Amino acid sequence: MKKTNHYTGRHSRKKFALPAVAGLACVIFAAQALGEAVPQSTITHRSAGGIDPKPYIESIELTTNGLQFEWSGFGGPYTVFTSDNIAAQEWQSFETNGTAALLAAEYQKQFVKISGPSPVFAGAATCMQCHSDTHTEWSETSHAGALETLKAIGQGENGQCLPCHTVGYGLPTGYKNETETPYFAGVQCENCHGPGGEHAMNPGDESNKPLIEMSSMMCGGCHTDTHHPTYDEWELSSHSDALSTIQNHPFGGDSCLECHSQDYRYAEEAGYDMPSVENAQLSLECSTCHAPHGGVEHEGLLRAEVGNLCGQCHTQEEATLGDSPHHPQFEMLKGIGAFNSDGTPLEQTSAHSQLAAAGGQACAQCHVVSFEVENPNQGNPNVTGHTFNPFDESITTHQAPQYAGCSDCHTSEWADQHRHELQSEVENRLAALAPYFNEDSEQYIDPAQLSAADQEKLQIAEFNYHYVEADGSLGVHNKNNASEALDVADTIVGELQ
Ligand code: HEC
Ligand code: HEC
Ligand code: HEC
Ligand code: HEC
Ligand code: HEC
Ligand code: HEC
Ligand code: HEC
Ligand code: HEC
Ligand code: HEC
Repeated sequence: MKKTNHYTGRHSRKKFALPAVAGLACVIFAAQALGEAVPQSTITHRSAGGIDPKPYIESIELTTNGLQFEWSGFGGPYTVFTSDNIAAQEWQSFETNGTAALLAAEYQKQFVKISGPSPVFAGAATCMQCHSDTHTEWSETSHAGALETLKAIGQGENGQCLPCHTVGYGLPTGYKNETETPYFAGVQCENCHGPGGEHAMNPGDESNKPLIEMSSMMCGGCHTDTHHPTYDEWELSSHSDALSTIQNHPFGGDSCLECHSQDYRYAEEAGYDMPSVENAQLSLECSTCHAPHGGVEHEGLLRAEVGNLCGQCHTQEEATLGDSPHHPQFEMLKGIGAFNSDGTPLEQTSAHSQLAAAGGQACAQCHVVSFEVENPNQGNPNVTGHTFNPFDESITTHQAPQYAGCSDCHTSEWADQHRHELQSEVENRLAALAPYFNEDSEQYIDPAQLSAADQEKLQIAEFNYHYVEADGSLGVHNKNNASEALDVADTIVGELQ
């Protein structure tokens, strides 16, 4: 069925009541954030270890003045090398403190490379001196114990594992082993913020501020590979496209970003100036749902209880008669949000509504379904549930079998049969109702021809119709509720036609 989406309807702006997540470490930040643009994402590639402190060439261009190129890095002096032969022993070189250079284009073919000193890491214990609240929260997450996890299975010295389980492994200034560098064990502040040694010595220096990097690419440097391809799955989910949806939408405006952009949400929470549709950068990233420092009581470092988390966005908000409700999945599951024919709220639960009860797995029970395979490999990886939609048939490898999430309560055969029966019934009922609200159809009920009282009834019918349609599950979320909402609509159009 083709979904209609009319984003011309009223969209009330609701402040999200985010739970106190990793409160700002100290007052200075809150004060400094005011009137400041939200930190930009600067990461351009993924790296085992999180933020990669090595210098990387970001752009290179042949101009009339020569070869212009730029790189990123965590502090020079950098040495720029150039040669016409990639295998050359000797390269021409010079030092610079900048992150851009212009070279004379001397050869037909020219190679450049760049090197910098290994950055200074401080270790979490040093960060703690000034960021003690954040440190306390972090120390209770499993990130802090990531080396212990390796040791527990006798892999504490395996160089293949250490890049994602320690700080700076492989760099001369990073983790070496437990005797020499015990303070770099585990996933720490500097995996996610970049090397902070200079900042720790000189916190007032603006040029050395650690990064605030909220892009999934940062987490995804480690949360990848065939054992836990979380990033790879997230990339397939529409959450990773949420910002471009708005930027390409004719009615896309700043108010949409609350549910479609992480940098907007963070700016709102941390007190930065909110980005606009044009300059917002990020979609719905790992840190939209997960509190990176912990400090939350929900499993998996989730920012809220799972139903409430998904329900921050998958909600019709305050949509009421005269509006066209969008994404009312939270209300549908709970059994609220539609109307009786007298205009009172229709409330109707089904068995699935129990999943939305406090402590329930709610949406995640069916939509975040992890699945372990035997001998995970590229073609057949484990599944973490981060495509969020195990029913999306366009996604093949990275999804749990369709009914894995139902199996606590139904067999696959039962779920498959009843799902399809119910969905086609609801689909047929929606198709039968649609013409009454469509100006181009012969069955169209024109509100202009109705009394004020009947106009209101028609609004109820139309609301309920859109409510069931926009939910998208075609009855599965809450069979009784969807069915009653459609009963009400059927009765009303029967009376008015
Ligand atoms: C000596 C005290 C001190 C130490 C040690 C310290 N910081 Fe900071 N940090 C600060 C202060 C003060 C600010 C606020 C500076 C500002 O906003 O300009 C700050 C800001 C930050 C920010 C926010 C940057 C921004 O853009 O607003 C991050 C992230 C951060 N520190 C991480 C770390 C990490 C990681 C470590 C350990 C490697 C660390 N800090 C060690 C004092 C310290
Ligand atoms: C340097 C690699 C690395 C980076 C970067 C990283 N992680 Fe992790 N993460 C790990 C490892 C390793 C574990 C498992 C630790 C263990 O169980 O010992 C883990 C565990 C987790 C867990 C389970 C935590 C718990 O306490 O239940 C969550 C959630 C998580 N990471 C989210 C994130 C998010 C969100 C980001 C980015 C903001 C991120 N990670 C960045 C390596 C990383
Ligand atoms: C590319 C980064 C990366 C590398 C390399 C890596 N790990 Fe991990 N490891 C992670 C992440 C991320 C997690 C957390 C996964 C999650 O909770 O979804 C993790 C979790 C674990 C866990 C906790 C149990 C589990 O599976 O969730 C064990 C044990 C573990 N890793 C062992 C190893 C061993 C042994 C190696 C080397 C052979 C290794 N890891 C290499 C990133 C990595
Ligand atoms: C798993 C990755 C990760 C780790 C580990 C981590 N951070 Fe962060 N940190 C982030 C992200 C992402 C943000 C911005 C988003 C947010 O706070 O929700 C952030 C934000 C911050 C900020 C800005 C204020 C704020 O809270 O938003 C400071 C300061 C900071 N971190 C310091 C630290 C210190 C100190 C440590 C170690 C004790 C640490 N972080 C460990 C990922 C991490
Ligand atoms: C911060 C807001 C936000 C949160 C939190 C959120 N979502 Fe979403 N979700 C969206 C947006 C926006 C889209 C549509 C993105 C697009 O198409 O551009 C979406 C898309 C989806 C889709 C795909 C729908 C389709 O038409 O294919 C599913 C399924 C989904 N979300 C499930 C969940 C679940 C389950 C949770 C909780 C674990 C959750 N979402 C949390 C905003 C959110
Ligand atoms: C209250 C949170 C919220 C706000 C505000 C919001 N959206 Fe969304 N949007 C969602 C969710 C959740 C989804 C995915 C659920 C679904 O498809 O049913 C979504 C999906 C979409 C889609 C994809 C629909 C589809 O079926 O493919 C478009 C287009 C869209 N939104 C546009 C907008 C525009 C334009 C605005 C601002 C006028 C906006 N949204 C404001 C939460 C929101
Ligand atoms: C739309 C919300 C959402 C987004 C975005 C999201 N996650 Fe999750 N994540 C969840 C939910 C829900 C769970 C399941 C928690 C549970 O079942 O207890 C989960 C589970 C996890 C776990 C396992 C935690 C545990 O203790 O077993 C890890 C690790 C994780 N996510 C990492 C990530 C990373 C890395 C990203 C970005 C690539 C990401 N998540 C993006 C919602 C999200
Ligand atoms: C009992 C299992 C179950 C629960 C619980 C559940 N869903 Fe669903 N959901 C489904 C099924 C099945 C579909 C239909 C998928 C299809 O037919 O492609 C669906 C459809 C959707 C869709 C539309 C996807 C699309 O492809 O258009 C979204 C968005 C969604 N659910 C979000 C949520 C959210 C948010 C919650 C929690 C408030 C939730 N779901 C709870 C099973 C569930
Ligand atoms: C927590 C347990 C639980 C989970 C998980 C669950 N269900 Fe259900 N479901 C029930 C119960 C109980 C009923 C009502 C029993 C009945 O009608 O026989 C039900 C009813 C249904 C119905 C309505 C059947 C009818 O009467 O026409 C469908 C369809 C359905 N489930 C599909 C699913 C699908 C698909 C999933 C997984 C995506 C799922 N359920 C997950 C417990 C669950």
